[in-house]
Amino acid sequence: MSGWAASRLSAVVYDFGVEREWLARPAGAVLWGTDTRLMYETIRTIGAMPPGSAVLDVPCGGGLALRGMRPGQDLRYVAADISPVMLSRTRAQAARLGRKVVVTAADVTRLPFGDNKFDLCVCFNGLHCLPDPAAAVREIARCLKDGARLVGDTIVRGAGLRQDLAIGAFHRVGLFGEGHTVDEVERWLSDAGLKVDRLELSGAVAHFAATR
Ligand SMILES: C[S@@+](CC[C@H](N)C(=O)[O-])C[C@H]1O[C@@H](n2cnc3c(N)ncnc32)[C@H](O)[C@@H]1O
Repeated sequence: MSGWAASRLSAVVYDFGVEREWLARPAGAVLWGTDTRLMYETIRTIGAMPPGSAVLDVPCGGGLALRGMRPGQDLRYVAADISPVMLSRTRAQAARLGRKVVVTAADVTRLPFGDNKFDLCVCFNGLHCLPDPAAAVREIARCLKDGARLVGDTIVRGAGLRQDLAIGAFHRVGLFGEGHTVDEVERWLSDAGLKVDRLELSGAVAHFAATR
């Protein structure tokens, strides 16, 4: 079982931090050598989706990306995660923001959606948590419509010793997978049939955008 599904404390501590940009920014800089503004900027992609778009947010965590929706924006927004604690936080966040969200328990490597259903998938800070991220990317790609996009970010090895040690430590407690390189991220995307439009490193965080 994923450490995330089992540990309430990890879910609450992580989500508390990432929901607060003023806290995430120094934490991201110190721990991962990254500029978290890139991630918050990418979240705004959601607000540019045309009316009627279907958006998949996986893993949604506590609903970080919900802030990307504009008030009254006509979207079918599906938020999926494996952790019951995270799912209830997403529900609370949707209620706080007044956004309509379908919240679904799901394993990202076995999504309960048909083929070609979504116009956009956002996947923030999730792939590095998985034992088989390539399977997750394949599964996300299956659920995207032709021409639809996947955007997100993931932590990778190779930025520095401190970051690689942190990846190893989180792996040992079951919160991260074994750790991968940015080249592997590129391979997961292209092997899943996606065209890589962006792959940009900021410290140990790889930001990606790809089109099916
Ligand atoms: C670091 S959090 C990121 C969540 C959110 N996207 C964010 O940026 O705040 C990683 C999330 O992955 C979820 N997760 C881990 N393994 C998963 C799996 N196999 N399927 C779906 N979600 C999973 C965890 O429950 C956790 O919410």
